[in-house]
Amino acid sequence: MEEASPTQSIENFEIIRPLGRGGYSDVFHVKSIETNEEFALKVIKRNKPAQALNRVKNEISIQMKLEHPNIVKLHTSFEDSSFIYLLLEYCSGGELHSYIKQKERLSESETRRLCKQIINGIDLLHSKGIFHRDLKLGNVLLNKNKTIAKIGDFGLAIEIEGDDEMRRTICGTPNYISPEAASRKPYGLASDIWAFGCIVYACLVGKPPFDCPEVKQTLNKVKNLDYSIPDYLSQNAKDLIAQLLSPDPWKRLSTSQIMSHPFFNNNSIPKLQIKTDYCNRDYYEGDTSPLIKTGKARTGTDTKNGSRASIAHSTRTTQSSEGENMPLKYDQSQQVRRSLQLESIQPLSLYNLDPFVHTLNNGYIEITNQGSIKVYIAKRLLEVSSDGQVIFYQGKRYTLKTMPRSAQKLYLYASNCVDVIRKHSVQNSFDSQYI
Ligand code: ADE
Repeated sequence: MEEASPTQSIENFEIIRPLGRGGYSDVFHVKSIETNEEFALKVIKRNKPAQALNRVKNEISIQMKLEHPNIVKLHTSFEDSSFIYLLLEYCSGGELHSYIKQKERLSESETRRLCKQIINGIDLLHSKGIFHRDLKLGNVLLNKNKTIAKIGDFGLAIEIEGDDEMRRTICGTPNYISPEAASRKPYGLASDIWAFGCIVYACLVGKPPFDCPEVKQTLNKVKNLDYSIPDYLSQNAKDLIAQLLSPDPWKRLSTSQIMSHPFFNNNSIPKLQIKTDYCNRDYYEGDTSPLIKTGKARTGTDTKNGSRASIAHSTRTTQSSEGENMPLKYDQSQQVRRSLQLESIQPLSLYNLDPFVHTLNNGYIEITNQGSIKVYIAKRLLEVSSDGQVIFYQGKRYTLKTMPRSAQKLYLYASNCVDVIRKHSVQNSFDSQYI
């Protein structure tokens, strides 16, 4: 749970094994000698052209700003006379590329679960004007259980001024390159959406849509939109791919349209419902009504910022035996009970829970690889240790007794989430609840 200290040196780490090699860098799995915490350490030789070193500086400055469960975290960077080091979150499940190779291809439900997280990560990048420019299976990393996907490698990423700012420099991997970039036309954020389309396709089919042994052939296929969609895919999957791989960048779906596409909103399985009104300030400050409930989700759209998948409706509803949403009788005694609960919070326990992420329209809930729970809502971050006793709130450490009231509310919310997650994992209907 402790963050790596900002002043580090290579002497503080034990190298466990190499993880990969890029054009200018090597990545190693390392362990902090002091804390035993595991990281991925990206090592870049300093004797590189100035332009390459500027790229590294740019990568650090972009990735340092990003804090999201679906983006690989850059803890810190440091350097010595020979190398520049990037200390990154370690994703023990490796690359999505290797996972797909091992499984040949993924089911639609697994693709849905992982790609929903990838698009959540892209949504954050694009909302900050960050254009990744190298989205591909090899730059998506997984946790041990292959249930959490994180976007990594910001080596080619750039910050742009507006949604429609265009670039001309060709970069990116040919398999995932957009037709506008392949034709040397100006290209922008929509090229990341194209690459995402190639990722969705590759998950479902086992290889990217324009895969060819020769780069030139691949580029020709991209320019001619020469790919085929296998018949075994569902209509929703086919439709999503066709809309992502639209040759006209202006016609490609936006991140919010993708998140509300029917492929990501399959209603046939029960979903975890988390009352996201909690993110609203009014609710946050005053309302003490139930924060979380379970049932068959009517996936909805967030009308304010376009859409988010799997968000619960704000009207109180419950599930009838047929799975219909029915009005919920509002029990005022629950309000009273809940305000009393704030005075006598029981420690939550995360024992035996798998990593999990659920994105809200104003934040997220995450059970981390380290077994802690993070609740990030309305720019407030609470992290609770697996035994429920150590609490980090807005960067400060507390105990159950010392945490402020605003942290207590988030703590209770986290505790309710844990109850729901446990109930669902017991019912074996967990699959649908990852984001
Ligand atoms: N390979 C490259 N970056 C990595 C990371 N952050 N975790 C695991 N493997 C990696």
